Amino acid sequence: MATVRLADYRPAPFTIEHTQLLFQLHADHTVVDAAFQLVPAGAAEAAPWEFLGEQLELLSIELDGELLAAEAYRLEPGKLVLLAPPEAACCLRTRVKIQPQTNTSLEGLYVSGGLFTTQCEAEGFRRITFHPDRPDLLSRFRVRIEADQASCPVLLSNGNCLETGVIPGEPGRHYAVWDDPFPKPSYLFALVAGALEEVRDQFVTCSGRTVQLRIHVEPGDAPFTAHAMASLKRSMAWDERRYGLEYDLEEFNLVAVRHFNMGAMENKSLNIFNSKLVLADAETATDAELERIESVIGHEYFHNWTGNRITCRDWFQLSLKEGLTVFRDASFTADLHSPEVKRIDDVALLRNTQFREDAGPTAHPIQPDHYQAIDNFYTTTIYEKGSEVIRVLHTLLGEETFMRGMALYVSRHDGTAATCQDFVQAMEDAAEQAWAAGAALPRFDFQQFRRWYSQAGTPQLQIERHWDGDAGTLRLSVRQSTPATPGQPQKEPVVIPLVLGLVGQGGDPLPLQLPGEHAKDVAAATLPAEWGSASRLFVIDRAEQDLLFVGLEAHSHPPAVSLPRGFSAPVRVAMERSSNELLHLLACDSESFARWDAGQVLLRQALLERASGAINDELEEGLVAAFERILLEGDLGDSYRSALMAFPGLPELEDAALAQNGTVDPPALFEAVLALRTRLGDELQGPLETVLASCRNQWQQHWPEGVGDRDLTATIWSWRVAAGDAGVRAEAAAAVSGPSMTLARAGLRALQSIDSPERNAALQAFHDRWQEKPVILDAWFGLEAATPFGDGVERVRQLMDHPRFDPAAPNSLRAVLGGFAGNVSQFHALDGSGYRFMAEQISALDQRNPITASRMAKVFSRWQSYGSLRSERMLEALKQLSATPLSPNSREVVDQCLQLA
Ligand code: TRP
Ligand code: ZN
Repeated sequence: MATVRLADYRPAPFTIEHTQLLFQLHADHTVVDAAFQLVPAGAAEAAPWEFLGEQLELLSIELDGELLAAEAYRLEPGKLVLLAPPEAACCLRTRVKIQPQTNTSLEGLYVSGGLFTTQCEAEGFRRITFHPDRPDLLSRFRVRIEADQASCPVLLSNGNCLETGVIPGEPGRHYAVWDDPFPKPSYLFALVAGALEEVRDQFVTCSGRTVQLRIHVEPGDAPFTAHAMASLKRSMAWDERRYGLEYDLEEFNLVAVRHFNMGAMENKSLNIFNSKLVLADAETATDAELERIESVIGHEYFHNWTGNRITCRDWFQLSLKEGLTVFRDASFTADLHSPEVKRIDDVALLRNTQFREDAGPTAHPIQPDHYQAIDNFYTTTIYEKGSEVIRVLHTLLGEETFMRGMALYVSRHDGTAATCQDFVQAMEDAAEQAWAAGAALPRFDFQQFRRWYSQAGTPQLQIERHWDGDAGTLRLSVRQSTPATPGQPQKEPVVIPLVLGLVGQGGDPLPLQLPGEHAKDVAAATLPAEWGSASRLFVIDRAEQDLLFVGLEAHSHPPAVSLPRGFSAPVRVAMERSSNELLHLLACDSESFARWDAGQVLLRQALLERASGAINDELEEGLVAAFERILLEGDLGDSYRSALMAFPGLPELEDAALAQNGTVDPPALFEAVLALRTRLGDELQGPLETVLASCRNQWQQHWPEGVGDRDLTATIWSWRVAAGDAGVRAEAAAAVSGPSMTLARAGLRALQSIDSPERNAALQAFHDRWQEKPVILDAWFGLEAATPFGDGVERVRQLMDHPRFDPAAPNSLRAVLGGFAGNVSQFHALDGSGYRFMAEQISALDQRNPITASRMAKVFSRWQSYGSLRSERMLEALKQLSATPLSPNSREVVDQCLQLA
């Protein structure tokens, strides 16, 4: 399998001025007629002209209107080569036949429930027609679609619709012509044809232009598009307001499809979405799903500038568009809702997915320098760590300078294919201007900052505290290191903004005064209130450095250290802090992230102790008391209160157990979670009941109102059900038949681990109520597959035989197989049956859909962590998988995992 290397990047030997495509869609095949205006590149090396193609049947090929002689080109596996590249501008025209109706990969052109649709990112266009299919070749597209009028009344592509009509001589068939005035790479091309219902609205841009907005869904689904449409309008307004970026065409189309490999795709003016990220209202979607839909609609819309107008030179630059666009959608959500809770959610996601990836066999930098299958690099590292690195820049530069850098980036690179380096350069130039103008910004070395792009692994800060109680001085000695990752044994220090604060015994913020500073210098250096009271930012850029604070009150007891405030960088922080100090921060830290994080450290510790067979009673009593105070602290938002009480996720716990013990026993961690939940539910009965009673009054409020009350309800239900409360069990079960999907799913989650009649009845009721709605029924498949008792493998096999299970829908596969992989007791069964089952399923799926299969194969990436017995079984399953025929995608992942063996 070929490795693609960043170092091998060369510009293409030609450009494509214009692209003309004709699609003749038929039930049993499609003909694609493509004409390209090609212009040899200036300093053309004698490179051959290559046009990539997968599963294409070449019907004809012409150059400037003449059929090409057989000696003039060669068809090789995966490509068509022009043997004597033209020396002047020319027109290459090919006709190919393809089979979208049997395409199960969901790449290129395929049929989903009777609907023709495309997915071209990253390398799907080569499954449509012969093409270089590289993102640095931008071309103007004109597209004509011909199809059956009855089965495909709606014909869509990028840009503006120029004309439609019937086709003379072909009864029952019609056509549409679309023209996109903005040059774009092939991966942003899209086509949709089918019987779709349209919902319309309008948006007036800041310059007064009216944009037609259209959402296209399967007939019957129109009532579930209001939330998506409102989200789209909010996204458009937000990008104008915050970034000064306006939409650039007269129309914007959004299509929902059931069979889709990922969340959504930002094709120019024709965004295509997984239907689960469009169809929703309060009865059919949870609060979390409504927020996610809003953020993904925003994400794809924001790509219009960060991704489409400015695209990527090559796929090593993927984070240029993805990291930046995730950063933008996170700000969008924070601006519209609770910034505190959004930050916590994002960090929890990062710790439970990205930190794990960064510590395993598939670890890679946000700008990788090689890959085998690019689809494997749509990772949480590229997206979420990529976004964190942009946020690091924002933290170091401040909003004003960051936005100036952004404006420079857009003005320099609009209409081109850029690199991560181009983006950082724009930021550096903005910083240089600000520094030269004497702005109060910390200094740092941009060359060193760039290591964030090239080094994999999660940097770690080891902080030691030295307190001189007589002098009132505090020294924090900070050591920075990044663990070795595959192919990168040695790491250099990166630039880490560390925001911290000190909290006194009475909960009061203490001034952070450096030696030689005056009180007014301290005030000037203090960050704005969203970072908490009296916070300061320090640039950690050496392997070892000291932070010295003076002028603190002499006291035998050191002040509590609150950090990393706002999670100011994607790093792990290790510092000895006593339970009392952390409980103090959990009780009164003025900065919401660090306050939450103090609770997370305590919970992690309590759970790890339980998992290893001991109970730290003092610590748990401290947590009980802390949560009691939090429950009754009415002026903290409800969502935030609920976040403060949320347990760390299992991946994060596994990670901590591995660091502490060198091995992980997942079922023991799972049992520890249940046991601690039971204790908290039991000992906090009074306050939990009080809060639950007040939450009930807000249940009927509509998103985004009432979210916090429903969040808290979910936590309280799960704690009280664990503690054996029959009344709450009944209330949770009844929610399944109620008007709120959020509460229905909260009820099911609370009941999930308890083998009880209520649980079975509730799941059955949910199934019966929603069996006609695949998007919703997938949640049921997921819960069933995650059932922590009984014969898991047998249950999952039955689920896959369920009449409503759609084996061609990645959503359903992820629900069932993903649910099973997260089913700790069943997946990690000591006899290896869970692992073998997954290997068998991944191998079968890989034959049909490599993109989804290879993502699933990453469930084996931690095989070394689980103790000798399980590790051996997991390694066997990996080898079993490796011995079957695999796509390049899955082969790359399996080989990476096996490299550790
Ligand atoms: N670019 C898309 C996004 O982040 C995601 C994407 C990449 C994708 N490859 C895909 C979606 C393949 C579907 C299928 O918004
Ligand atoms: Zn994206």
